Amino acid sequence: MTNNNKKGRNRKESPSDMVNLMGNVEQKDDLTYNRRAFLKSAAGVSIALGLSTVPFSVRAMMGMAEDENERVEIAHMDQLPKGESLTFNYPTDNDPALLVHTMSGELVAYNSACTHLMCPVFYKKETDTLLCPCHKGYFDVNNGHPLEGPPQRELPMIHLEVDANTIYAVGRSYRHE
Ligand code: FES
Repeated sequence: MTNNNKKGRNRKESPSDMVNLMGNVEQKDDLTYNRRAFLKSAAGVSIALGLSTVPFSVRAMMGMAEDENERVEIAHMDQLPKGESLTFNYPTDNDPALLVHTMSGELVAYNSACTHLMCPVFYKKETDTLLCPCHKGYFDVNNGHPLEGPPQRELPMIHLEVDANTIYAVGRSYRHE
């Protein structure tokens, strides 16, 4: 291709001041400086991103992640005989949860989205366990920890208080015994 066939900026003898000015720049140095600047800024961004996640990691390691403390009324005791369960939402309307009055008479509550792939978990009175029917995941009703099937993590535990026959949700822990 001859220079005459090239268009605009690609032509060596361009009438454009900007193109001629760029032609004066030492291209080798320019490349080196650009590469160095790029590496410096990439390293800076990586370090900044890494540091920004540290507070969350520390909180998660200490079991403090997303503990909520809002007190919300769930039900009255007479609505929930032994061996029964009912659904509610906590701490927001987008967090489905399950309150269980176990066969042994304990009140327990967990967020009911299975920790495998989020299917809703049910209380299975016959075996006194929590069952996720999607892939047959079982959780211990007494502590929300997985017993069988694909789930690896415990269900988030909702802390309860009973006051004058009314059951309240008063907090939530993701990591718990
Ligand atoms: S979604 Fe619960 S076992 Fe898979």
